[in-house]
Amino acid sequence: MRMHLTKPLVTKRLVLRQLTLEDVSEKYVAWLNDPDVNRFLESRFSKQTRQSVGRFVATMNASDVDLLLGIFLAEGARHIGNIRLGPVDTAHKRGTIGLLIGDKQHWGMGYATEAINVVAEFALGSLNLHKVQAGYYAGNAGSQKAFKKAGFHEEARLSQQWFCDGVWQDGILACRMGAPHA
Ligand SMILES: CC(C)(COP(=O)(O)OP(=O)(O)OC[C@H]1O[C@@H](n2cnc3c(N)ncnc32)[C@H](O)[C@@H]1OP(=O)(O)O)[C@@H](O)C(=O)NCCC(=O)NCCS
Repeated sequence: MRMHLTKPLVTKRLVLRQLTLEDVSEKYVAWLNDPDVNRFLESRFSKQTRQSVGRFVATMNASDVDLLLGIFLAEGARHIGNIRLGPVDTAHKRGTIGLLIGDKQHWGMGYATEAINVVAEFALGSLNLHKVQAGYYAGNAGSQKAFKKAGFHEEARLSQQWFCDGVWQDGILACRMGAPHA
């Protein structure tokens, strides 16, 4: 199964659509190199460039088990972040969601909650998955709140999973279930 959207996912304030190489702007690359943005992301361990990000977008778009979407403001079409559904395990009907709102001036405005919610609904509805999951650092208060507000609940805590800001942090696994499947 090739993961692709026949049409963008639309919410009240956002449009989520697949990225093209033209979307790999200096602004997008700068998000990934910004210590405030990548504080809880593994991308902080290597410097990102237009080439590396372009390769990532191409790999995601060619993947059978991933859907990488850009998050754009419906009004003005400004690119403010990305959200990924994947990898998806079709045998067990589950997939992982991860995201970033790269444009810091748009933090705390409910955009992550809105994007997570529409992608979870797409995964559990159109793709007929049974479960969507997310993993985040226990210290990532924004992620914790946004996933919770989008209907996820904590299902596991991994002790001292990440070394971050000079201390060990627990990892949280959260999930949202779909309709019961046989
Ligand atoms: C974490 C992140 C996705 C949150 O995005 P966001 O659009 O700001 O999230 P929302 O506005 O939907 O936030 C939901 C709640 O969390 C709160 N929140 C957001 N960031 C917060 C922070 N750093 N500390 C405390 N609370 C925060 C919001 O105020 C909101 O609370 P409210 O409903 O009580 O008002 C965003 O900060 C981000 O992309 N950070 C960098 C990358 C990253 O960490 N990605 C997640 C990896 S799993």
